[in-house]
Amino acid sequence: MNKFVLGLTLLCFCGCSHQSTEIMDADKALDYCAVQVGRTLKELKGDSVIDYTMMPRNIMDSLTTWECRKVTKEEWTSGFWPGILWYDYEYTHDEAIKLEAEKFTSSLSFLAHTPAYDHDLGFLIFCSYGNAYRLTKNPAYKQIILNAADTLATLFNPVVGTILSWPREVGPRHWPHNTIMDNMINLEMLFWASKNGGGKRLYDIAVSHADKTMKCQFRPDYTSYHVAVYDTITGNLIKGVTHQGYADNSMWARGQAWAIYGYTMCYRETKDTKYLDFVQKISDVYLNDLPSDYVPYWDFSAPNIPNAPRDASAAAIVASALLELSTYLDGEKAAQYKDVAIKMLKNLSSRAYQSGESKPSFLLHSTGHWPAGSEINASIIYADYYYIEALLRYKRLADGENVLGRF
Ligand code: GLY
Repeated sequence: MNKFVLGLTLLCFCGCSHQSTEIMDADKALDYCAVQVGRTLKELKGDSVIDYTMMPRNIMDSLTTWECRKVTKEEWTSGFWPGILWYDYEYTHDEAIKLEAEKFTSSLSFLAHTPAYDHDLGFLIFCSYGNAYRLTKNPAYKQIILNAADTLATLFNPVVGTILSWPREVGPRHWPHNTIMDNMINLEMLFWASKNGGGKRLYDIAVSHADKTMKCQFRPDYTSYHVAVYDTITGNLIKGVTHQGYADNSMWARGQAWAIYGYTMCYRETKDTKYLDFVQKISDVYLNDLPSDYVPYWDFSAPNIPNAPRDASAAAIVASALLELSTYLDGEKAAQYKDVAIKMLKNLSSRAYQSGESKPSFLLHSTGHWPAGSEINASIIYADYYYIEALLRYKRLADGENVLGRF
């Protein structure tokens, strides 16, 4: 019996009802985020004015200030900082933060009329403009998301049935059609656009992508390949490989996290129970092999475990996903997923993982790209994004509201 199943069994055996038992102080953690947002804005302003085209990306282990990157179609993380500002505004209702969110968001508007560079357009636009529209209902924001969804759809290959994630890797790597697990997140923009005037085709593309990925990009034990390489003539899988994981056959923590988040979202958008069944299997294989603090090593087969670097970003992504997933289930599974998500958030909110006064980021200890020696044990902007998202999801649940905060 594995650890996760044993936990479930004990939960029932002890006569506990199927109620979530974990609680945390979300306001305390969100207040902390608000302080860190203020520190980051102060740092970005420096002695003069903010350059709204420069987005915080990371703070390396030995440093204390953000490395910022220019907004370009190639810089995939540029939507997270505007998204954090929108989430912070949602919590604080601070109009000054809203103003900053609007200005940083608008730096990404050029993407609405730029040919697709890669699948990351979904991260870029939906984390920024998606939250902007959710909170303001500004029709200009809606149009930008609709344009971006149409642009993302140009990468869909109907023979394969998935989106080409990295056009730039077709030639150099001999990956004729490649789809990475991260791409699952970007289906959310297609589902949203389909419901908001973009047409049924976008829904069909998202479903096709999710189905083919479910069929081809997971091993029999429900762990995922980071990259699926497909034949463009037959549409068949050629091979599953890694790019950011330890080995082709290992479970890269953030890749599995993207899958858990992505299939939870696919169930939400389609109500197809095959996704609900599947996401529990891919979640359980992840949960069953975590360290005691629920923050994974950057790859589940990383060398030097237990001294390998962690990936707090994966923990934040999974916590956010499991809070949502718990609302689609009943009984012990719902309670189990909610409790484990709260434990993740509690540990991320501890001194071991929060940057505290040492840096203006929310979190420490994420790993971006270990094989490339890049962003190891660092603060990374997408960890902060999913952390504040998960805190807000938890707060909404605790307040009896819709977990997604749609209004
Ligand atoms: N989408 C790239 C990553 O997760 O690092």
